Amino acid sequence: MKLWGGRFTKGTDSLVEDFHSSISFDKRLYREDIRGSIAHARMLGKTGIITKEESEKIIAGLQEILEDIEAGRVRFSKSAEDIHMNIETILTEKIGDAAKKLHTARSRNDQVALDVRMYLKNECCGVIELLIKLERILLKKASENVETIMPGYTHLQKAQPITLAHHLLAYVEMFWRDMDRLRDCYKRINVMPLGAGALAGTTFPIDRNMVAEELGFQEITNNSLDTVSDRDFIIEFNGAAATIMMHLSRFCEELILWSTNEFNFVEMDDAYSTGSSIMPQKKNPDVAELIRGKTGRVYGNLISILTVMKSLPLAYNKDMQEDKEALFDTVDTLKGCLLTFAPMIETMKINKESMAEGAKGGFTNATDVADYLAAKGTPFREAHRIVGELVLYSINNSKNLEELTLEEYKNFSSVFEEDIYDTISIESCVKRRNVPGGPAPEAVKEALELASARLQQVEDWLENNLDK
Ligand code: ARG
Repeated sequence: MKLWGGRFTKGTDSLVEDFHSSISFDKRLYREDIRGSIAHARMLGKTGIITKEESEKIIAGLQEILEDIEAGRVRFSKSAEDIHMNIETILTEKIGDAAKKLHTARSRNDQVALDVRMYLKNECCGVIELLIKLERILLKKASENVETIMPGYTHLQKAQPITLAHHLLAYVEMFWRDMDRLRDCYKRINVMPLGAGALAGTTFPIDRNMVAEELGFQEITNNSLDTVSDRDFIIEFNGAAATIMMHLSRFCEELILWSTNEFNFVEMDDAYSTGSSIMPQKKNPDVAELIRGKTGRVYGNLISILTVMKSLPLAYNKDMQEDKEALFDTVDTLKGCLLTFAPMIETMKINKESMAEGAKGGFTNATDVADYLAAKGTPFREAHRIVGELVLYSINNSKNLEELTLEEYKNFSSVFEEDIYDTISIESCVKRRNVPGGPAPEAVKEALELASARLQQVEDWLENNLDK
């Protein structure tokens, strides 16, 4: 008979049994479920709601079940519906009547909220850990390429010269914000829901703070109705995950472009590329493409959960069981992408010559010519027009700006002198952009130090929160 079968006169239709059972996916929460139940049982014993002996028996039984599951000795049953009732059923088989007291002052509604919160706390830290590793790799690559000149783009048109280090540091910023978002989200995951019961708390004199402390939660939830119907923390996590995927996807898009024959800025290691079944010459950036593609499913999961929660009346509704597959898929996809992306970046070959060459054409130093005039007193708007005409002249005469003679320059403005050539060399264009946050090697070195110190901060945070 079902754990809730007392009120029923016949069994569940077998189709319905398949339909509403969640054990096939929520079995992933077995560790959290057992750990949560142990804390609950200990609290029931301590407060005298059940006897010490009953509490100890339950705890010992749960610990055995944990070992049994990890040793592969447990087969979950679909008719026991979900992980919560599976474990309670197994416990009853194992220790008999005492098991039937475990669910005192508790409901599956607060239990499932607890399990998912515990699971997500851990996964949130895991994702932050992967982001730290990625950041370390990016910082190392950046520090090796402070002088590696490449073109910067707007509208995917060459715009101004920058360095590879500067470009990589842009992603360091994105992933930094991602870590910050996750740490912020973690605060709201880190709240202990048990004690909310089905929706209206319990008549038993429970000690919620004791459970929170044993399970390493920062605080307890405030409102029992909200507690069992809140999935904001899952939505927030998924939102943060979708943003990380968006960043990865943009990065991947650039790597895909950069590995084309046309760009030839980077080459992915053989271990992170694949071939074609028909074209023998091919080496495709499949890993980067797949990460770009998987971004779609993480976005989809976010929309799924948001839509599941939309219009749900308070408090718990079974719709909410649909939160788990989307969440698990996001966690798996995100971790898989980060795990593969980091070593792909670490092992890719950088083609410094092509990058430098790329920075040369396309009049990427035109702004610097205008700045040169402006610095000597020509109003910038006028300088802009003069250089626009200079560029047109150069195009018509198949020359770069560096190749024009001083005479040619003087035809456009008498302000030009011999020092124009030093000013507009590509190296000098980069070096002279020495503002905080700019691409000049000096500014980039400072940015590297800042980023590295910031990373240390997150590492310390992780140290304090991991496994709590
Ligand atoms: N398997 C359910 C879920 O994932 C657990 C809570 C069930 N509660 C209930 N009243 N049916 O949401």
